[in-house]
Amino acid sequence: MQNSKYCEKKIHIALFGNPIEHSLSPLIHKNFSKEIKINYNYNSFLCTKSNFFVIVKNFFQNGGFGCNITVPFKKKSFQISNKNTKYVKISNSVNVLKKSSNNNIIGYNTDGIGLIYDLNRLKYITENSFILILGSGGAVYSIVYHLLKKKCCIFILNRTISKSCILVNKFKKFGKIFVFDKNLYTKKFDIIINATSCGLYNFSPKFPKNLIFPNTKCYDISYSKNKKLTPFLSTCRDLGSRKYSDGLGMLVAQAAYSCYIWFNILPNIKKNINLLKSII
Ligand code: ATR
Repeated sequence: MQNSKYCEKKIHIALFGNPIEHSLSPLIHKNFSKEIKINYNYNSFLCTKSNFFVIVKNFFQNGGFGCNITVPFKKKSFQISNKNTKYVKISNSVNVLKKSSNNNIIGYNTDGIGLIYDLNRLKYITENSFILILGSGGAVYSIVYHLLKKKCCIFILNRTISKSCILVNKFKKFGKIFVFDKNLYTKKFDIIINATSCGLYNFSPKFPKNLIFPNTKCYDISYSKNKKLTPFLSTCRDLGSRKYSDGLGMLVAQAAYSCYIWFNILPNIKKNINLLKSII
């Protein structure tokens, strides 16, 4: 039976990004829609830098209820929302938009809580974990605050060092965060997280090989299908890591928290991770 609060008309939710053909989000939301008994459709829209704002604005003007934003528009979306949560104001990065009853477009970010959910599920993270993050784009802005709140110590390694400096300067008031320098870090990393977009183009970002030990937990916020390892995880395994995971769990968790923002119902995250793993 349909949830009575939402039974009058079809609810339109969308995903905007580039690329998006690979995205599992439509499948995840199809499963959520059945589980929470709210009949919403979830369509993907491929955008370019020049048409992104127009497409998203048209979507909301034509009755759109809410949307997810993915690579590479998370930081741009900050300019679409006219109200933002505290965390979005800190990170300037948005992955969820919702139209409110008084027609405000509200910006949220569920990537950080999605990542923490999954690192906890995998038992990878503890308070004070020593973490290396690869990348300095929108995805990293989305996650570092939550890791700092967990009292983790973070080093950032990015192809363009100036971008990691800007990121570190922005977040250093929230905890221990530094630009990676191979002469400065003091002990083995507990976790190495790949948050670059390299996986989308099927290669691993470069990083010093001697950072990987058998107990280094390697986490890729992107994911791959057909039970294959992502290029980053495959590199980590070849370098000797015995504990690694892709970001499928984070993907499902951020989607579930998005669903909670739109409908005030949280789908069962563990059940949906297992369901998705059995399908793809
Ligand atoms: P996202 O929203 O996924 O973070 P983004 O903001 O475009 O997307 O950021 C992409 C990240 O992947 C950046 O850290 C980028 O490095 P630069 O800051 O040097 O551009 C990183 N990245 C993309 N292509 C890369 C490559 N070929 N090698 C290493 N890093 C790369």
